[in-house]
Amino acid sequence: MADTNAAFENDRRRISRLVQARWLLFAGGLLCILFAWLEPQRAPFALGGFVALVGVALFFPRRTLSAPVRGVMASHNQVWPDTSIKAITEALGYPAYILDADAVLRHTNARAEQAFGPARAGDPISYKFRRPEIMRLIDEAVASGSRAELEYNEQVPQERWYAVSVSPIPLASASRRPAFFLLSFFDLTEAKRSEQMRSDFIANASHELRTPLASLRGFIETIQGPAAKDPETITKFLGLMLEQAERMSRLIDDLLSLSRIEMKSHMRPQGVVDLAELLRQVINMLEPLSANLGVKITLSLSDKKLPVRGDRDELIQVVENLVENACKYGQSGGKVVVSANRVPAGSSSLPGQIEVSIRDFGPGIAAEHLPRLTERFYRVDVASSREKQGTGLGLAIVKHILNRHSSRLAVSSVPGEGATFAFRLPIER
Ligand SMILES: Nc1ncnc2c1ncn2[C@@H]1O[C@H](COP(=O)(O)OP(=O)(O)OP(=O)(O)O)[C@@H](O)[C@H]1O
Ligand SMILES: [Mg+2]
Repeated sequence: MADTNAAFENDRRRISRLVQARWLLFAGGLLCILFAWLEPQRAPFALGGFVALVGVALFFPRRTLSAPVRGVMASHNQVWPDTSIKAITEALGYPAYILDADAVLRHTNARAEQAFGPARAGDPISYKFRRPEIMRLIDEAVASGSRAELEYNEQVPQERWYAVSVSPIPLASASRRPAFFLLSFFDLTEAKRSEQMRSDFIANASHELRTPLASLRGFIETIQGPAAKDPETITKFLGLMLEQAERMSRLIDDLLSLSRIEMKSHMRPQGVVDLAELLRQVINMLEPLSANLGVKITLSLSDKKLPVRGDRDELIQVVENLVENACKYGQSGGKVVVSANRVPAGSSSLPGQIEVSIRDFGPGIAAEHLPRLTERFYRVDVASSREKQGTGLGLAIVKHILNRHSSRLAVSSVPGEGATFAFRLPIER
């Protein structure tokens, strides 16, 4: 702001000095005439007064002073947008700049400063955005006097997508050409991401179904052809076919489960569940799997009863997925610790929370994978997950169920030392 008005302020100060000089000269002239009247030596005073008043009338008439003031004001308004236009750009919820017709930056709104850093008013906008397509867009809008737009993406520091537009700002005072243009950046990153996720999801789901289907076809063709008369091979292949069919139905069950949870996502769960009892039940259910993998599960509870509001079946699904993952992927650690503890609330008027955590001592997960674990079909090691009969949907289901319970999954891991998956639910009084 200080920069934007510096030139105008200079002109204003120069003009106000001229106005002061005019008044001083006028007052001096009047004084001289007064002295000429009172003093006996009146000739020099009379001459001085006469010269001063003639000077005021000749060199500082009202017109000659107000004309430059008007001129400066007009050119200022041509170059610097007025405060109401700036206030409107501040009210826009996205980054926006005001440029003049020479692509010189005249105002930056706060959002733009947050998104792209500071920019100096009075500098060409090309100092800020060096990409040729943006400069071409500005040229196009200035030349045509109409709105121009394009999609623009930035790779650094992280990938972001914007719909960039340059629109003329029509002002009643402007002559033929618009004096100002609004360069705005509408963030499309979220929309692009969900579009990408949807197409990835379809590609992944069909790929996951196509693989067992292809092997089923292979087995059927072998049984119909070369192995038609070999009962031993037929029995072996039928076993493998059953495995593939089971994999397909697991995948379809998980997909249906996800879409059911998504449909219920806006409904708050109604039941009251005792987490202590639920955790014991899940650990019992997974006993055969953990024994098979040689993993010992231990349970640590801060209270005998830990009631929370929630959907019992869904919370069973959450804990089952997490404990199963801990046993499967943390097998090398040999043990899994499941714990549930009361966490006091910050204020006495709020109910406390119960934190459930599932910790394994396996290889852990590298930091770059952590933010993506709950994406559908995301697996750190695809081959090892398939081998463990995983579909890559478990944590996506967990995330959706916890969302519906207004909770979040927190994952932490030190590679080589294991991983901890935790979530919190408010205590039901
Ligand atoms: N405790 C863990 N330790 C190391 N890696 C893990 C752990 N839990 C999950 N992962 C990684 O996260 C990936 C995603 O887990 P998720 O539960 O979503 O899928 P999955 O176990 O492969 O399949 P599903 O759960 O559908 O049977 C896994 O493939 C695995 O690579
Ligand atoms: Mg899993």
